[in-house]
Amino acid sequence: MKKILVTCALPYSNGPIHLGHILEHIQADIWVRHQKSLGNIVYFICADDSHGTAIILKSKELNILPELMIKNILNEHKKVFINFNIFHDIYFTTHNKLNYFYSLLLLNNFKIKNLLNKKYIYQFYDNIKKVFLPDRLLKGKCPKCLVSNQYGDVCNNCNIVYNSYDLINPISILSGSKPILSKSEHLFVNINNYKNVLNNWLLISELQNEIKNQLYLWFNKLLDDWNISRDIPYFGFKIPNYYIKNKYFYVWLDALLGYISTFKYFCNLNGLCLFEDFWNINSNCELYHFLGKDILYFHGLLWPIILDILNFRKPTGLIVHGHVLINKNKMSKSNGNFINASKWLEYFDSDSLRYYFSSKLSFKINDINLCLNDFIKTINCNFINKFINIISRISTFMEKYFNNILSNKLSDKNFYYFFVDKSDLISNNFLNFNYNKVLIEINELLNIINQYINDKQPWLIIINKNNKNKLHNFCTTIINVFKVISTYLSSIIPCTFHKIEKYLNVKLTWNNINIPILNHKICNYDKLYNYIDKKIINYFKI
Ligand code: 2FM
Ligand code: ZN
Repeated sequence: MKKILVTCALPYSNGPIHLGHILEHIQADIWVRHQKSLGNIVYFICADDSHGTAIILKSKELNILPELMIKNILNEHKKVFINFNIFHDIYFTTHNKLNYFYSLLLLNNFKIKNLLNKKYIYQFYDNIKKVFLPDRLLKGKCPKCLVSNQYGDVCNNCNIVYNSYDLINPISILSGSKPILSKSEHLFVNINNYKNVLNNWLLISELQNEIKNQLYLWFNKLLDDWNISRDIPYFGFKIPNYYIKNKYFYVWLDALLGYISTFKYFCNLNGLCLFEDFWNINSNCELYHFLGKDILYFHGLLWPIILDILNFRKPTGLIVHGHVLINKNKMSKSNGNFINASKWLEYFDSDSLRYYFSSKLSFKINDINLCLNDFIKTINCNFINKFINIISRISTFMEKYFNNILSNKLSDKNFYYFFVDKSDLISNNFLNFNYNKVLIEINELLNIINQYINDKQPWLIIINKNNKNKLHNFCTTIINVFKVISTYLSSIIPCTFHKIEKYLNVKLTWNNINIPILNHKICNYDKLYNYIDKKIINYFKI
């Protein structure tokens, strides 16, 4: 039995959960549910990332205190995730005492290891908004490939990491104005001596090939000192004046530590003595972080260094995904195609999106395109026609002739075990994050079941004394193969799965996949799922 800790990147407390967040949380939630169904112990944790310039700006815009704003947003975020059936063991915030404790602990360790230094630097300042501009609030031309519209930290086109003051023709995203350079003193950590630590971790960690290559390139160049301080106005943890005057910890430092403090909080809350087990340098538990490709630098380079400095274990793996595209365009407020997750749920349910994203998710870092026509076709033609309709085809016979009691025998045992025998293949695809392959495989199985029903033509079987049993055993077989496929799909479509369990009047588990349900009373069939009306495209514009 494995013990696994899973995290998703912590969403910022300055806005709603959107479909980009949901993609990542669905990807992680499916994996967690599958691991749990195999009997492994898994803790799935997340929190809001509640600090930084963006938070203070948003609270000013809303004219409320940042503390109140992050509290309200935390409640909204929690609700949305629950509505998508994302099953976090805890959803916390980085704005808490434990997280401050770990930030100070890390700072102290930087000091003990003699890694800190102070330097004067020039930073961009927005003279209209009166704030220093963090990397993500600046855009300009990449200093290397000269492609426009790049943030102040990493180029989306050529992947190079740079300092924001290297951007060519920078513009403040906040006001659209040309920022001015202003000088102030900052606290830096020297990370250049950690190349060996990083390369050793690279050798043993589970990473996608593209990610490994990217990290290798980053690790083996000169690693610039990391600036961990930020000027006021800021919302976050204050660095003790003893280290530097009037500065706050850079949000990314305490955001990453949020993984540790959230788990610590979870353990304290539930009286569990698991913290050491999971974070100790010699831990044999596993640690997986799910994240988007744009924040690889922080998780793949700074995070292993931080963990090394704290003498904690390093991640077992990083599971990196691409962006959500809407009709092949990047989803963003400025593109006007930003889809709020709650808005999505006003039109569709969560299982359908979970199913659709799964049909596209693999271990690759491709962007995931959402196109409404394709979404509706996938749900209506694959999910409903091929899967749900199997049961609606059989339930009528069960109700009409057999009082909803399954027979004591399968008409075709080999047929049933053919589907059972796919369990390892399907499980491995889940474990390897290839959900698209899971659905390809399942759709092939569903084609076989539907063809089998067509060939046997149960509706032509005339009910008489002799063939009543035949039809009964046939229906029992189909219901049992449906049970197997439902179990395979359980982590993807938890809500529908729950309805299926209710209909079949039985708890379905991965371990019992090879045991058919016989001599068993099921319930009256109640529609499991409705077709999506194509007209929805006329009023849900994306
Ligand atoms: O990019 C983001 O949305 C960050 N809030 C992710 C933080 S992940 C972790 F480090 F906390
Ligand atoms: Zn570039």
